[in-house]
Amino acid sequence: MILSLSATGQPVSTAGLGGALDPRGPAAREISDLWWVLLLLGAVVYVGVVAFLVVGLMRRRRDDSAAPGDEGVPSKWILLGGVALPAVVLAVVFGFSLASMSALTNDIPDDAVVIDVVGRQWWWEVSYEGHDFVTANEIHIPVGEPVALRVTSADVIHSFWVPQLAGKIDALPDGINTMVIEADEAGRFGGRCAEFCGLQHTKMGIDVIAEPREDFDSWLEGQEQDAVIPDGGVARRGFEVFVEAGCPECHTIKGTDADGRTGPDLTHVAGRGSLAAATLPNTPEHLSEWVANPQEIKEGTQMPDTELSSEDLEALIAFLETLK
Ligand code: CUA
Repeated sequence: MILSLSATGQPVSTAGLGGALDPRGPAAREISDLWWVLLLLGAVVYVGVVAFLVVGLMRRRRDDSAAPGDEGVPSKWILLGGVALPAVVLAVVFGFSLASMSALTNDIPDDAVVIDVVGRQWWWEVSYEGHDFVTANEIHIPVGEPVALRVTSADVIHSFWVPQLAGKIDALPDGINTMVIEADEAGRFGGRCAEFCGLQHTKMGIDVIAEPREDFDSWLEGQEQDAVIPDGGVARRGFEVFVEAGCPECHTIKGTDADGRTGPDLTHVAGRGSLAAATLPNTPEHLSEWVANPQEIKEGTQMPDTELSSEDLEALIAFLETLK
């Protein structure tokens, strides 16, 4: 589902951000179940404490007339309610937490699809083990198969979080954290960076697209292909604009000399669902807005505003739209 989409509005994943309590995978379900257990236990304890408090207040009022120095609260209540009961409740909570922790394995299964995810200010770089391509802000995975994510960062600390599929994992600049995710069903699952990482932390979204194995395989195959540069027409002019404007310094297009790594790889940019890390849906109109005014849409992003004539901008967008 596509949610609010204005350039100045709240950034949203094109998938919307499904809740952690609406799990669509084993890891997220484990966490969701634990959440409900904790809520239930917490509710029982809360109701118990309030009930005792009310009883205590009412008794006190009744006893106000009694002489001072009466027996007060028997110490067995303090031992029972203040020591024994909390110890039991905490032990139970600890037990449930340990069970969940051991169920959330970070060991990479032999048959897992292995994906490297790099957090950057403020987008995600994605590549697949054994495949020669780099993409951004979208992770395709096969349904019903374990997928290992090796998560790291190229700058500051980020946190990768797709609530419907798994818990959060830190993206650290000086190490790799591994998390195994799996989706029960096909769909597009929205995610966010969950660690404050600078000005545009809120516009650092990601989408996970779970699809049947054959669709996933053909997507992989498509991503491996070089871009086909148009040999004529307005799109060809657009490619020239791309080169003249200096875009290749920061962006890669496989099959051309453009090999910059500062910004997302654009080889198949038109095939992605969103722009600027799930900030805008990927339509020609939004792409044009983004290329012309990135600083207005995402202030502080490393993408500079471009000063192109409207003719050149139009040609550039026509070219970028060919990069399926
Ligand atoms: Cu990256 Cu917050």
